[in-house]
Amino acid sequence: MLVDGHGREVNYLRVSVTERCNFRCQYCMPEKPFSWVPKENLLSFEELFLFIKVAIDEGVNKIRITGGEPTLRHELDKFIKMISNYKDGIDLALTTNGYLLGEGAEALQKAGLKRINISLDTLKKDVAFKITGKDVLVKVIEGIEKSLAVGLKVKINTVPLRGINDGELIELFEYAKAKGCQIRFIEYMENSFAQSSLKGLNEKEILDIIGAKYSFEKIGREGASPAQQYRLDDGYIFGVIDPHKHDFCENCNRIRLTAEGMLIPCLYFEEAMSIKEAVENGDIEKATKVLKKVLKDKPKENRWNDENSETSSRAFYETGG
Ligand code: 5AD
Ligand code: SF4
Repeated sequence: MLVDGHGREVNYLRVSVTERCNFRCQYCMPEKPFSWVPKENLLSFEELFLFIKVAIDEGVNKIRITGGEPTLRHELDKFIKMISNYKDGIDLALTTNGYLLGEGAEALQKAGLKRINISLDTLKKDVAFKITGKDVLVKVIEGIEKSLAVGLKVKINTVPLRGINDGELIELFEYAKAKGCQIRFIEYMENSFAQSSLKGLNEKEILDIIGAKYSFEKIGREGASPAQQYRLDDGYIFGVIDPHKHDFCENCNRIRLTAEGMLIPCLYFEEAMSIKEAVENGDIEKATKVLKKVLKDKPKENRWNDENSETSSRAFYETGG
C-alpha cells in the first residue's frame, strides 16, 4: 500500500502518453504550443510500463490513460494490453476527446479497456467548432456510439461555459441519460494557457439549471472521486466536479506521470521528479525510490484558495488534467 506524507492512501495513477492534441479547446490549448516536446523525449510504452509495474506492485490498482489526446499515440491498444495483462482487477480507463474512437474503440476494448471518459461540451456543430477550433461534432458522437456498441462503459465530461454552452446543459444531460452514460459537469479551471475571457459556471449554477427540470438528491462523493454525485428519482446518477472546493483534496488518492516521465504529486504545484533515467536503465529500485519520495512530499491541498495563485500555470494538456 502506498501512503503519502499526509496519511492518504494513494492507489490511483494517471498516465499521460502525449501532450499533443488534435483539438484546440478554448479552456485547454486554444493555440498550438510554441513547440511540442520532441518525440525523442517521450518515454516509450515499454519505459512507461516499467514504471506502471512498479506502481502496481506497490499498491496502485487504478490507472487512467490521458493526454493531450491519448489516441494520437501510435498503437495505444498495445500499451493498454500490456497493462491489462499484467494483473487482474486493475481498474483501467481512458480519457479522450472521442474523435478517433469510431475507428479505434474496438481495438481498445479488445485490448482490455473497460471504461472511457469522453469530452462532449455541446450538441451543436457550430458551438463544437467554436470550442475546439475544428468541425468535430459528428466524429465525436460517432466515437461515443461506437464505444457503447463495443461494450465500453462511457462517461461524458462537460465543461459549462458562460455564453457558450450554458444554454444546452439540459440537452447534454438528456443525451447522456438516454445513452445510459453518466454525465459529469466539470467546473472550468482557470489556467494561464486557456483563452482569457472564458467564464465557467459553478456547481450551484449548474445544479440550478438541472434542478429547474429534474429533482435529485445529493449522494456524496464516490470513494476518492472528485465528482460530487447526484441521483434523480428514477435512479440516474450524474456528477459535478468542483475543484474550487476545499474538501476536494481531503481524499486525494492520485499521482500523475507525464509522457516525458515527470512524476507529479499535485496538479497545482510545480514540484515534480523525473523517472526517465530510472526506466531508461531498467532500474526498478530507483523508480521505486522516486515514487516514494514524490508521495512523501505530496502537498496537502491545491492552491485555489491561496490568494496568490488563482490560476494553475501548468498546462492541462501536459499533465492530463
Ligand atoms: N477546466 C475544466 N476542465 C478541463 N478539461 C481540460 N481543461 C480544463 C479546464 N481548464 C477537461 C475536459 C476534458 C478533460 C480531458 O479535461 O473537459 O474532458
Ligand atoms: Fe485536447 Fe482535451 Fe485539451 Fe481539448 S481538453 S485541447 S481535447 S487535451
